[in-house]
Order: sequence, then C-alpha cells, then structure tokens
Amino acid sequence: MSTYAVTAARVVTCSESAGQGALGVLEDGAFIVDDKAISWVGKRSALPKGIAVHDEGANVVTPGLVDAHTHAAWVGSRHDEYVVRMAGGDYEAIARAGGGIVSSHRQIVAAEESTIREALIARAKRMASLGVTTIEVKSGYGLLPEEELKQLRAIRDAKSDASIPRIVSTFLGLHAIPPSLRDRRDEFLKGATGLLERVQIEGLADFVDAYIDRNAFSVEESRAFLTAAKAHGFELRLHVGQFSDIGGAELASELGAKSVDHLEVVGEAAMNALANAGVFASLLPTACFTLKQEPPPVARLRAHGIRFVIASDANPGTSPSESLPLAMAMGVRLFGLTPEETILGVTRHAAASLAKDDVTGSLAVGKCADYVVWDLPHEHALLQPWGVARTKRVVREGRVIGGSDLAHALK
Ligand code: NIG
Ligand code: FE
Repeated sequence: MSTYAVTAARVVTCSESAGQGALGVLEDGAFIVDDKAISWVGKRSALPKGIAVHDEGANVVTPGLVDAHTHAAWVGSRHDEYVVRMAGGDYEAIARAGGGIVSSHRQIVAAEESTIREALIARAKRMASLGVTTIEVKSGYGLLPEEELKQLRAIRDAKSDASIPRIVSTFLGLHAIPPSLRDRRDEFLKGATGLLERVQIEGLADFVDAYIDRNAFSVEESRAFLTAAKAHGFELRLHVGQFSDIGGAELASELGAKSVDHLEVVGEAAMNALANAGVFASLLPTACFTLKQEPPPVARLRAHGIRFVIASDANPGTSPSESLPLAMAMGVRLFGLTPEETILGVTRHAAASLAKDDVTGSLAVGKCADYVVWDLPHEHALLQPWGVARTKRVVREGRVIGGSDLAHALK
C-alpha cells in the first residue's frame, strides 16, 4: 500500500468544504493519497512531516472528470450519414428512413459481445487520456431484448477493468423501434418493460433511460416503462427536449429522475418542474453543435436555479466525439456557461447526477483518489479548445490510467 502527497500551485478540489470560491481552489495545495483513497486535503504548508511528495510544480490538479452521458458501447461507423447531414440532410428524416440509431442497431446485431466490449474498452482508454475517470455508458443500440442484453453484458464486463475509467451503466430501453417491430409498437414496449426484471436480476444497469421526444417515445409510453423501472429499483436519467418539449421534463420531475439530458427545447413549465424537483440538466454541446441547433436556454435555466452537468454524449450519430474537454470548451463558447458551471458540471455535479458523489467528483477525505494533473497552469486553461490531450497524469483510485506519464511508461 503506497502513501504519498500530491502538491501543486493550484489544487482545484471542487469540494464545498475546502479552498476558495465555488471550485474550492487551494493555492499551494496538497492532498494525501492512501492506496486508493484520499486521506487528507489542505495547504502544502500544513502537510504532515515525513511523507513522500509528488510535487506537480506550476501545474493545476483537478478531480478526475466525470462524463455522465455517453453511448460509448457502439461499434462501426456512421460517417456516410454524417456527410449526408453536413450537406443538409435532416437527422430525424434519416432516422425515419431507417438510418440513425437503427443503423447502429444493425452493427450491434452483427457484432460479437466481445467485439462490443473491446470497442468500449479502447474508447474508454482514449477518454481517460483526456482526463476522464468515470463514464456513464448506455445501451440502446441493441433494441431487441437479446441484443440489448448483449450490449449490457459487454458494458458490465468492461466495468471490471481497473485500467479504464469507472463505468456506470444505463439500460436505455426506449431509444428506437427496431425495423422488425416497426408496426408493432405495443409489442416492442411490452418487450422493453419485460426486460427490466432480467436486467435487474443480472445486475446489468444502475440507471434506466428513455428518449422522450416527437419522433421517439411519448410521455404516456415512457411513463409506463419508467414507472416499472422505478418499481425494479432503478434510478432514472432521461433524453428530454432534444427537438421538442412534449412534457418529458414534467414526467422526469414527477418520477424523481436524477437528470434530464439535452434540453435544447424546453419551456417555462418544464423548467419550473425541474427546479422544484432538483433534477440536474445535463447539457450536450457537441451534439447541439453537430446538429447545428440553437443552444438550450442556459440563462433561463440558470435563473431557475437548475444545476448543470456537461457531457460528451459520445455516439456515432449526433456526437461523434469522445472528448469531454471539447464539450466543455463548446459549453463555454456556444452555450454561455461560466467556467465554474462547466467545471462543476464535469466533476461534483456530474458525480451527483450519477449518485456517485460519495466516491468521486471532488478531492475530499474519504473519496477515491481520482485526480488529473494537467499540463496547464490554471483551471480556466482547461476550457480552451486544445484539440489534443493536455493531461500529464490521470489517476483512478490511485492508479495511473492516462496522460503523458502513462504514455512514456508504456514505451
Ligand atoms: O443523445 N437522440 C437520441 N440519442 C442520441 C443519439 C443516438 C444516435 O444518433 O445514435 C443522442 O443524441
Ligand atoms: Fe444521448
């Protein structure tokens, strides 16, 4: 068991009980790592004597980043439809014509479970190199019960790999209707609801998700499925308001969902409901950018006191990017998020939206030793669109899983 202290010019704890400002910044800060956990946080000058020190000099240190919305267990590519969309093709029209989610579904059907797992692990390693130590991963491309189970089992097996970010898994049971059930919607809904028990028994998911939108699933359809999910003990996080406000936010609030995600289109009643229920708003700037949409009404959401999460939405259709730092940069530039909102949205708030704030999301005593040493001098430098990794060391539970130090060690 190794015990050491990390010291740096700026330690951004993202904790409410340490340091200055909303981000809990400790100038000339330090923390002690005891094997896999943090056992002490404070000023460098107050460090207990006699402890080994890793001095990170002028670099900034933050908690490991948490990407709270990804579809990272996909295989194949949708570059063909991307080009069509860039030439003016419409995402929803492509989906209605059998492309989009259904195209990724076909690629999942054709893949072995092990291929899906390996694709996810490779992707998670690349995410780690960008500073991410926890990712939420959804199913939702299997669509048919056995195929959803295959995708969920691939995610579960990747979970046990300690050399990649920690995985929180979500059963996205209502994402699209598979072509074979196109005219049998009720049968599909029955099948998805029936699968909940199996997913619970096999321990395949922490959360359940549904895509509530015009051209996706209605509030009534989602209500039945999500109520059953809650009865099976699942927490909820939902795709809401990507293209239209059909009442998904009110349903999410009523059912006590942890998060509603997208919200490009969200009205006043929806915002009131979210604020009253304390639901996180997970914003997905790269998806909004790729679809060339208007940003969500950030100022109004903020005025309602709704807390933000920022996520990559990594998927082969609307957000073909694995980069949470890119989503952060776009969140600031395109959405008008403040630096504090953005950084809390990928640390403490993201972890809380995943019910993992007892484990990660801030540098605090008792939390896992999940942290990033950036090759950057200040947390605000994280928000610039670098286009390349600026991580020196990415640590999950005391183990280096990414950054230039790991790359050198592997050479
Ligand atoms: O979050 N819109 C629904 N789901 C995903 C996209 C999935 C896909 O196009 O493959 C999203 O944008
Ligand atoms: Fe999504």
